[in-house]
Amino acid sequence: MSILNLHKEVFSKIKYPFSLPELLYSYDALEPYIDAKTMQIHHQKHHGGYVNGINEVFSRYEQLQKYALWEVLQNLDEIAEKFDIPAEDVEKIVNMGGGHLNHTFFWYIMGPNKEVDKELEGLIKELFGSMEEFKAVFSEIATKHFGSGWAFFVINQDGDYELYSLLNQDNPYLLGDKPIIGLDVWEHAYYLKYQNRRAEYIRNWWNVLKVL
Ligand SMILES: [Fe+2]
Repeated sequence: MSILNLHKEVFSKIKYPFSLPELLYSYDALEPYIDAKTMQIHHQKHHGGYVNGINEVFSRYEQLQKYALWEVLQNLDEIAEKFDIPAEDVEKIVNMGGGHLNHTFFWYIMGPNKEVDKELEGLIKELFGSMEEFKAVFSEIATKHFGSGWAFFVINQDGDYELYSLLNQDNPYLLGDKPIIGLDVWEHAYYLKYQNRRAEYIRNWWNVLKVL
């Protein structure tokens, strides 16, 4: 499966009731680049918290339960109006739902062993000239992002590819885009091992990005 089919293979299957996905590797598998303690807390506590949060909101709106989570995020204004969802619950859907999608995808694209996605690699070389150039541009966006958030490589509704960062747990589906690669730059993703050295975390992260 190419990562370019992530939407169909991964995101379209994320529906209520939501559950914390099992990692495809052990907590210490990404050592020395991401330490076991960070992985365990990140997966169980942070991601687990987003799963509980989005389940709590969806449990109160039966009308939402037939939708895949990405559909709710992509059509949030329309859905909120249709089902009369107040602003504070819309905010929870953005934060908790985005947190669940973002992390599910983050675990999925990482791993201890490289399984380079040839289709994605070919596309990146075509778009950026070389893998090094793509990594440099992506890393700069991730490094310079102010505060908590994510760097993303996405395909937009016109079929064009874009790189950008988003705040907090905002997910590209909110903008109508589909994520392909995402990097968590919240401090919870790296602080135990790297403290304030986000650039070093990002440099090392490429070693555990399985698909490139
Ligand atoms: Fe995170």
